[in-house]
Amino acid sequence: MGRDLKGMGFSTLAVHGGIKQDPVTGAIGPHIATSTNFAAEYGTIGFSAEGTVEEAVLFAYAREGHPNATELEQKLALLEDAPAAVVFSTGIAAISGLILQLLEPGDHLLVSDVSYAGTAEFTRGLLRRKGISVTVADMSDLDDVKAAMRPGTRLVYAETPCNPVLKLVDIAALAKLVHGYGAQLCIDGTFATPAVTRPLELGADYVVYSLTKYMGGHGDALGGAALGDAAAMDRLRREVGVHLGGTLSAFNCWLILRGLETLPIRMAAYARGATLVAQFLEDHPKVTWVRYPGLRSHPQHALAQRQMSSPSGMIAFDVVDHERFGRCLKDQLKVFYFAASLGLSRSLILDVNTADLQRTTFQLDKDHLHRYRQWAGDGFFRLSIGLEDPSDLNADLGRALSVL
Ligand SMILES: Cc1ncc(COP(=O)(O)O)c(C=O)c1O
Repeated sequence: MGRDLKGMGFSTLAVHGGIKQDPVTGAIGPHIATSTNFAAEYGTIGFSAEGTVEEAVLFAYAREGHPNATELEQKLALLEDAPAAVVFSTGIAAISGLILQLLEPGDHLLVSDVSYAGTAEFTRGLLRRKGISVTVADMSDLDDVKAAMRPGTRLVYAETPCNPVLKLVDIAALAKLVHGYGAQLCIDGTFATPAVTRPLELGADYVVYSLTKYMGGHGDALGGAALGDAAAMDRLRREVGVHLGGTLSAFNCWLILRGLETLPIRMAAYARGATLVAQFLEDHPKVTWVRYPGLRSHPQHALAQRQMSSPSGMIAFDVVDHERFGRCLKDQLKVFYFAASLGLSRSLILDVNTADLQRTTFQLDKDHLHRYRQWAGDGFFRLSIGLEDPSDLNADLGRALSVL
């Protein structure tokens, strides 16, 4: 039996949610259960996703579900206050699985003009090749979204804050608009996590996460999750788990379960550190702009304060001589790593090339390219602030800026 956690706070749910005391050993933390097969009574397990009687058994074959996945799904559903969750081997497996599950050839998907590169390339590439029409809108501008809606629009997909430029989406306003057209809204909340924003409470129909990032939080486990109503999640589990097979391993579930226990305190620490770094950058004469939801200068600062309980740990900025700064960083960094990904205890820096992205990844038309450039120029640096002392991070950046 699990504990009765009804009405308990977010931090308590992060620690105890989904975990039951083991009846055999009394262990109060999860074991790692690596068995691929689970014994059943004769006649209770089937051979496929359809027409089985597997509801009668807890687990049958680990691709369709296993104890650690269930623990993780239950913890995630509690943290999001969602009816159900399904976990996947990666964030992009959750995203592609959910979209493929929801849409049919001929449907229209409206997706953010700018997003995580893998999502952008998947939607503009494979989805279009399979007969789903995909167009883009600036999800921070409801008039642009309205103009892009069509009679066949089934799903609107957006990230907030959006990777890599840190534009925000007003989830409540967008959900209202999208529902008015009879479509559904999916939010990728990877940059915020449910410790900061809970998209379903604001009206979104689905939320997806890369668990690889802040949720796992230690840079040692890939993972993804989709959350939404129970029937949709059940279909997703059968279709994707059984037919596409993007199952999250028991060990990764266990690592992510452990990471989630400290999610609230880590998110607070990332925000504290990132605020100090963003302020340092904003005050520096060689920095030309900074985008951080916690700064008053962020064009959507008021929305950030309304929708985010803290500003998270991602910063975008540029300097007077972008190319030269890249070379200066190479020689001066003692703490930051040049690396992709985000949301781990180590601080990371990434040089984002707008020209390449708009051509190959985002495939922006003139209007959306103009919007992108207005927001984030021709290139910038993206920081994922970790858990080091902010003074050491500022010293790294300060050294590189002083030789620029
Ligand atoms: C916003 C966002 N969503 C999804 C993903 C994909 O997640 P994963 O790398 O776990 O597949 C990423 C990865 O960077 C991301 O930044």
